[in-house]
Amino acid sequence: MEHVSLKPRILILLFCLLTLITNLYSQNISYNNAVVSSANELASEVGIKILKSGGNAIDAAVGTAFALAVVYPQAGNIGGGGFIVLRSENGFETSIDFRETAPSLSTKNMYLDKDGNVISELSTTGHLASGIPGSVAGLLYALEKYGTKSREEILSYAIELAEKGFRINYELANSINNHRKEFNLFNGSSKIFGRKFRSDDLLIQTDLANTLKEISANGRDGFYKGNVADKIVAEMKKGYGIISLNDLENYKPVERKVIKGTYRGYDIITMGSPSSGGTCLIYLLNILENFDLKSMGRAGIHFVNVLAEAMKRVYSDRSEYMGDKDFYNMPVDKLISKSYAKERFSNFILGEMIPSSEIKPGNLNKESPQTTHLSVADSKGDMVSLTTTLNDVFGSKVVVDGAGFILNNEMDDFSVKPGVPNIYGLVGNEANAIAPGKRMLSSMTPTLILKENKPFLVIGSPGGGKIITAVLQSIINIIDFGMSVADAVNAPRFHHQWLPDILQLENSYVSNIQIRELKEIGYSTKIIPDFARVEAILYNPDGTLTGHSDRRGSGKAVGF
Ligand code: DON
Repeated sequence: MEHVSLKPRILILLFCLLTLITNLYSQNISYNNAVVSSANELASEVGIKILKSGGNAIDAAVGTAFALAVVYPQAGNIGGGGFIVLRSENGFETSIDFRETAPSLSTKNMYLDKDGNVISELSTTGHLASGIPGSVAGLLYALEKYGTKSREEILSYAIELAEKGFRINYELANSINNHRKEFNLFNGSSKIFGRKFRSDDLLIQTDLANTLKEISANGRDGFYKGNVADKIVAEMKKGYGIISLNDLENYKPVERKVIKGTYRGYDIITMGSPSSGGTCLIYLLNILENFDLKSMGRAGIHFVNVLAEAMKRVYSDRSEYMGDKDFYNMPVDKLISKSYAKERFSNFILGEMIPSSEIKPGNLNKESPQTTHLSVADSKGDMVSLTTTLNDVFGSKVVVDGAGFILNNEMDDFSVKPGVPNIYGLVGNEANAIAPGKRMLSSMTPTLILKENKPFLVIGSPGGGKIITAVLQSIINIIDFGMSVADAVNAPRFHHQWLPDILQLENSYVSNIQIRELKEIGYSTKIIPDFARVEAILYNPDGTLTGHSDRRGSGKAVGF
């Protein structure tokens, strides 16, 4: 009798084991309470510890963001800026803009020589490339207003990681080593990143720990005034930078109304100006809603054709109409209206392409690189989507001497000269020209999605100008193609940003035959390395949560 009943048991055991292995591989694990997905497992674990000790999603997001400043210095930061989009369990929604601002001494043509030509690298590396950092002010604002835990408790995790150190992974070692030259060029005594690293080395950041302690003890004044502020200004003086004590003291994060759209009955809640991300995402979804994408198939030529043509129109409007709406009358309502999307796409014919040179910005009344995203969601329905950046990998490469953190090179996100591309190849015009106090246009797209008014998805990504299209395709993969969150995020992507007029495809997106067909339609195509690193959390129909950290990075979605 015994051995007869053993067989099914072994089979069940084998089946369970197989399911477990498959789940682990695809990371489609569901959790009952909460998930934090970020670019580094140590940082995700900080968020989980905070949630387990009774903190809410904002406490966890802020703790994770400060931890990323220590364990993911390529992009995690206190010397940069970012955006938070949040929704609490009772349905309250808001966004916090802690984007960097241009220093008061900045001028429209500050990166041009006397003949009006762009001076190479001035807006991308070194002291003059930095905007006034917004991260500390923004994260503390979010914590004080929407968190429940003390600043000291939330910062203690990052302080410990900086003070006691942590074992660095291959990605970080490699990244630091690749930029040794610049670190040594721009930094004096605090050459913490100037030496050669190997994976598994212990990275102790004493200066950074001390800066974090100042912030823990004195709040925003611990960064924007006193010791740390003095160090930032002293650093500026070494390299012809222009950030002043007044600039630092006057920096303010801004709480803004989220912008909203719908897509096939789902509600999209996302970030408005000074990011272009949310506006472009809603605009793209409004165009795409008019097509049956599912029947075209993900790798179908018509699918690529519709998306690419939509992207071209949207990015051409981005170049002309999008900027900091506190300085430039950005026609947001029109750009995210369903009627404008229809009108703008009315000249589209399936199977045909219009060259970018023939697509002009619409007719409106005028008015690996590094960023990092983290998503937090809990079963009560609190959702936080936070993207933060230094702009390029390690920002300006300037470490503030004695303060141990890296300054951003966000000034390059302004249009330094009309029509001249930034490091992501994006062009701009008056809407995004430099002016003192103005915020440079971003593509960051921290987004929340509801289904029948209930939490459905928390999503966002780094990736420069490709953030928008990476978030877009992950959403479509879930909503239109019914893919699991892991498959949706991991699936190959493509990108078109109007200029250059090139359809950029990740290696495995389509076959050689399809590339030929796309060329026949008229597309210039280019195979590019994998782009963007989406961090997404999906609410499953049974109320559990599944998170996924993009295969393209080395992050992790952790839950309990
Ligand atoms: O705000 C922006 O759009 C850019 N500074 C983001 C940079 C970025 O995503 C780089 N990461 N891969």
